[in-house]
Amino acid sequence: MNFLLALLLMLAVPWSGSAASPAANHENFLHCLSTSPAANVSKIVFYTPANPSYPSVLQFSIHNLRFNTSAAPKPIVIVTPQTTSHIQAAISCSHKHRLHLRVRGGGHDYEGLSYVASRPFFILDLINLSSVKVDVAARTAWIQAGATIGELYYQIGTQTTTLAFPAGVCPTVGVGGHFSGGGYGLSLRKFGLAADHIVDAHLVDVKGKVHNRASMGEDLFWAIRGGGGNTFGVVTAWKVNLLPVPENVTVFTVTKTIQQNATGIINRWQQVADRFPDDLFIRVILDRTETTTNSTATGRASFNSLYLGQVQSLLPLLQRDFPELGVEREDLIELTWIRSILYFAGYPTDSPLEVLRSRVPLTRKRNFKAKSDYVTEPMSERALEGIWRRILRPDIEDPELIFSPYGGRMSEIPESSIPFPHRAGTRYKIQHLVYWEREGREATDRHVDWIRELYGYLAPHVSKNPRLAYVNYRDLDVGSNNGAGFTSNEEARVWGVKYFKGNYERLVRVKTAVDPRNFFRNEQSVPPLTAWK
Ligand code: FDA
Repeated sequence: MNFLLALLLMLAVPWSGSAASPAANHENFLHCLSTSPAANVSKIVFYTPANPSYPSVLQFSIHNLRFNTSAAPKPIVIVTPQTTSHIQAAISCSHKHRLHLRVRGGGHDYEGLSYVASRPFFILDLINLSSVKVDVAARTAWIQAGATIGELYYQIGTQTTTLAFPAGVCPTVGVGGHFSGGGYGLSLRKFGLAADHIVDAHLVDVKGKVHNRASMGEDLFWAIRGGGGNTFGVVTAWKVNLLPVPENVTVFTVTKTIQQNATGIINRWQQVADRFPDDLFIRVILDRTETTTNSTATGRASFNSLYLGQVQSLLPLLQRDFPELGVEREDLIELTWIRSILYFAGYPTDSPLEVLRSRVPLTRKRNFKAKSDYVTEPMSERALEGIWRRILRPDIEDPELIFSPYGGRMSEIPESSIPFPHRAGTRYKIQHLVYWEREGREATDRHVDWIRELYGYLAPHVSKNPRLAYVNYRDLDVGSNNGAGFTSNEEARVWGVKYFKGNYERLVRVKTAVDPRNFFRNEQSVPPLTAWK
């Protein structure tokens, strides 16, 4: 081994500089990286397993502890680019030395695809490319792809009280993956998805060329706004339009147990939630709690709402259209939009806005498995009772279902506008979740089996042929690419049409045009038509 490389690995500091190395592909890869023209301009920082910081750099952005085990395959190198030229160098060296690439933004992928692969691989971790520039006058923002949505919210909220952006609930989610798969939050009925408001992007393609919207062309620009991450190139920045909101908005959370008629109220919610005025979003979170009377387990529905208006107009609206919920004046909290972000993220609403910048989640990380469904017709109370029976199973640590209403703006945007297709006709989306802390195979199997059984149970009550799913709630159970080599269009369509419906074929055409050898790939990336390995 080259003396300088050996010395630097022994000293175990993030290494930059030039060195030669022996035959193994990954050492050649490191050598390539460190001798690339980009490395002459500024250091390319990377971490190999010999570096004491490697475990913490790897684990910092792993959000599903199911993939943070000693058995999970580990990257040979983690590259943390500081500039676009470092990304170009990593792509070029990956080609030369056939080392598989996984891009990581915020690391929230439900199946760990940004940091786990079954073949030797390296991670291109964009954590250092995380600046956000808000232009209040132009109502736009440029967001580097390694930023979190919390950083975006922070930058908006510290500069204006009347502009907002419709992205997700948890501030630690990365814009890299989130916008690549659509991205929604509590203003979805008013504004649609995060990806609906992307107006430009910077992307490094398979040849290492840097593009903006004009140079990548409208097909590729269409595909990256919802067609899934790690498929068409490495996005380095997004430009988005910001949206106007009132100085004050209103939030509330009202909970009902089974004994308090949760089932009947959810039933009513199914009839009205997607028909409310666009300004009103009420989701329902189903989980388990204890009764106050005799501390036995019961089912609980939390009606959790954002209204883009004030109390004085919300209260009569709820009393007229949803009296069953029994919302009262004292349930309603008026605050600025940015403070509503704190509320839904679980922070006290008077917290300093800086908490939104933290990449450490508020609640502890756990193992989890999730699935998604789309509902077009209300399910019966009997079907809902079957959900409660499953939630009440005492051997399941923390089950949760989230029903998010659609309608409003979501129904107006055409299905083919961006690759995300779930628009008119959708009443609500279900996210099925199960969390657990107990380690080991048995606990994992028990919880994964539970969610699969629940999913089977719900089949008659949700979309069919295909049974639709949300790509950002990644679920490898719905199908995956052929790990052994070429994946045919027929094989990939199995999962592809569930995520993208009729947009899947256009995604394949774009992929075939921009990355025919399938360089950017993972278990659920759209494959090209051609048979390259
Ligand atoms: P990660 O880094 O794991 O990337 C996800 C995928 O995108 C991977 O395939 C990765 O390779 C690829 N990718 C990342 N950056 C890229 C880039 N720059 N260029 C190309 N490809 C790139 N969703 C939602 O819509 N609303 C919500 O409220 C929430 N809330 C939520 C909370 C929590 C706790 C979790 C764990 C997840 C969510 N999500 C969500 C789901 C979330 O939108 C989804 O997991 C995103 O893909 C996460 O993006 P990250 O960049 O964080 O993940």
